Amino acid sequence: MIIKRAVTSEPINEVIQNRWSPRAFDRNRQVPREMLFSICEAARWAPSCFNDQPYRYIVWDYHHNKSAFDRAFNCLGEWNQKWVQTVPVLFVALADSIFRKTGKANRWGQYDTGAASVSICLQATSLGLMAHQMGGFDGDKLKKEFGIDDRFTPMAMIAVGYQAEIEVLDESYHKDELKARERIPLGRNFFDSEWEVPILKDFA
Ligand SMILES: Cc1cc2nc3c(=O)[nH]c(=O)nc-3n(C[C@H](O)[C@H](O)[C@H](O)COP(=O)(O)O)c2cc1C
Repeated sequence: MIIKRAVTSEPINEVIQNRWSPRAFDRNRQVPREMLFSICEAARWAPSCFNDQPYRYIVWDYHHNKSAFDRAFNCLGEWNQKWVQTVPVLFVALADSIFRKTGKANRWGQYDTGAASVSICLQATSLGLMAHQMGGFDGDKLKKEFGIDDRFTPMAMIAVGYQAEIEVLDESYHKDELKARERIPLGRNFFDSEWEVPILKDFA
């Protein structure tokens, strides 16, 4: 199995270090129902603006409801469909654009939904599962297919399951699956006191 622990410049939490986005999943290995609930519970405890919890998730388990899973699968882009063929569980993350309590516009809905989705990925990792988020899907088609109100924006679909050997994947994905993970140097995105002043580690 491919392991792609983040090569970090500073020590970080082990679960964060171990999370990565594979494409080789084992569809034959069912994700225990209690693990799916644990993943949802982790997202439920994510922080959100006014604690509004503006995210909604639909969870599709191939082994639990194949026909609904297939309807979700059909909303994925062609390139994602080709590797998601081996995935047993899909989530979709939807962001509410309106606060529940006030009915006013919630401009943090998408931010909060992203935060909850990271919790999904990290909880999955901590359970020995893998998670892979995808933007490549037809959100309008998905909304229509599942009768979702217009106030919700489909943000990402998330593949969840046990990892498999790379051989389950079409060869066209092998290079990506094996390539080293990369990140922009820390100082390019994190600033010290002023805009675009790279934060530096103080060794003094
Ligand atoms: C919002 C979002 C959309 C993404 N869309 C896709 C996608 O459509 N297909 C895909 O294979 N990976 C997709 N990814 C995965 C990213 O390519 C991946 O997270 C990134 O390359 C960093 O790799 P890592 O997650 O292994 O650290 C997406 C990730 C995010 C957060």
